[in-house]
Amino acid sequence: MTTQTVRTTLLFGAILMLAAICYLPTQFNSPAARARDDGVARTPPMGWNSWNRFGCNVSEKLIKNTADSMVASGMRDVGYQYVVIDDCWQVSRDPQGTIVADPRRFPSGMAALADYIHARGLKFGLYTDAGSRTCQGRPGSLGHEWQDAATYAAWGVDYVKVDWCYNAGLDAARQYALFRDALAATGRPIALSICTWGTPNPWDWGDDAGHLWRTTRDITDRWPILLQIIRENAVRAYAGGPGGWNDPDMLEVGNGGMTTVEYRTHFSMWAMMAAPLITGNDLTRMSSATRDILLNHEVIAVDQDSRGTPALIVHDDNNLQVWSRPLEDPSTRAAALFNPTDKSAAITVRWSDIGLAPGDALVRDLWAHADRGVVADSFTATVEPHGTIMLKITAQSYVAATLPDPVVPPAPPAEAPVANPNVRYPYLSDLTPTFADSALGPVELNLSNGEGGAGDGHPITLGDTRYAKGLGVHAPADIRYDLGGACTDFAADIGLDAEVGQHGAAVFQVWADGALIYDSGVLHGGMTPVPVYLNIPGVHELRLVVAPVDWATNYAHADWAGARVACSVE
Ligand code: GLA
Repeated sequence: MTTQTVRTTLLFGAILMLAAICYLPTQFNSPAARARDDGVARTPPMGWNSWNRFGCNVSEKLIKNTADSMVASGMRDVGYQYVVIDDCWQVSRDPQGTIVADPRRFPSGMAALADYIHARGLKFGLYTDAGSRTCQGRPGSLGHEWQDAATYAAWGVDYVKVDWCYNAGLDAARQYALFRDALAATGRPIALSICTWGTPNPWDWGDDAGHLWRTTRDITDRWPILLQIIRENAVRAYAGGPGGWNDPDMLEVGNGGMTTVEYRTHFSMWAMMAAPLITGNDLTRMSSATRDILLNHEVIAVDQDSRGTPALIVHDDNNLQVWSRPLEDPSTRAAALFNPTDKSAAITVRWSDIGLAPGDALVRDLWAHADRGVVADSFTATVEPHGTIMLKITAQSYVAATLPDPVVPPAPPAEAPVANPNVRYPYLSDLTPTFADSALGPVELNLSNGEGGAGDGHPITLGDTRYAKGLGVHAPADIRYDLGGACTDFAADIGLDAEVGQHGAAVFQVWADGALIYDSGVLHGGMTPVPVYLNIPGVHELRLVVAPVDWATNYAHADWAGARVACSVE
């Protein structure tokens, strides 16, 4: 080696070391961004996964045919994009530890398969396991997280499902955060699907690490299991929202174990719950009934609504249920009339149950693809056993949702009598609550919550609008009034005060005599305020609750802006 070569080698060595020193800190020390915020899954992911129908019988041919069918059937054009190979594609690791795809089943290799899928305007997904082995005993990713992430990115993978078998007592939140960091370091946007079957409480940490998290056991193609999964996933509604989604597992629609009516319920409920729509049937042979379900663009539009608020059960009468979710257009709700029983039954959705103003609303049936007309206050339909009628309900008098100006301006004495006969439209901040509690309290009158003592907030502001009147709290909060049955209406604009910017989140609820009559779903800082207008005739106890959202307990400055009631004059 000449002196010149030695010098050049040393110089290059020094440059490489310097580069490594500069690179490492950013890779390992920078605080990782929450997966929810990285823009990868603003709406619930849609696609196909091999497991439910094909199990371990996966191959290059199957995946290519599936991608072709996704295009030919029109599924791609209604939003399905990921083609995901589940367990059993991997056979070993090479001497360098790189994961090896089954060369017999995938002779062209994964990179070529990814190209094939990408060329059709679709995205490619793979499965692995956080433990030492996959659930089918193939090599897992434990100890190879960074290496596997780099391999997937090099192949062109866009989605990784990470299972939880053979986890040997790992800390799930930490282990999945490791995957998040490893995937982020590749620089390729990759959706991370967390599959711990609802343990240990992924709704508490899932959105930090990934974009969707399984909330339940594995689905099977049977009605009782479907019912159980719906029940278990529904109670996690508060955790799902743009960027991170509750995952009640992949769809069984078209696999033959349930009736068409039951599959329609399956698809409706997944859309209502803002669940990922990952089909699990044979796309190359679909009956027209299956196709009609999976390609129902009106139901898909509910699932994909950009507000991303999962539905709640707003009425349950002996199992006959009304589900509702607010949509991006604030005058509109999606509602499901769900009959899990074995007999036909009439189910009524009342506007007051779904937070719409009384009066006329346009009702559209999303399975019949037909308008049911403009109807007042409620809509009733007969729902077949195990069936679901899915509706979009648009209030016609939405702009009138704010109460008229008071006939007599409110002039509250300190100990304002409830339903003062001289005050027709009292603001709640002028009435005396029977109970008032707010985190970082107290409940502020006509000010936002300032996180300290009384009177330390700012004028209540939602978006660009300032409100002279209203209640400012920090979640969790609970305010109760005794209206003595004398009031008929409640109105307020709700949201997080503009002072928190894009931070914070909370759920607003209104309870009337112990019954939940309104639930906003998760509202985030920076969202357009939501007008709420409810009928409360004869109600004694009106209760305004602001529930915290466990991934965003800070900055939960919640305003009941302009909150008032309309009470009859004696
Ligand atoms: C687990 C998962 C399933 C599927 C199988 C594959 O059971 O929950 O969704 O991925 O493993 O082995």
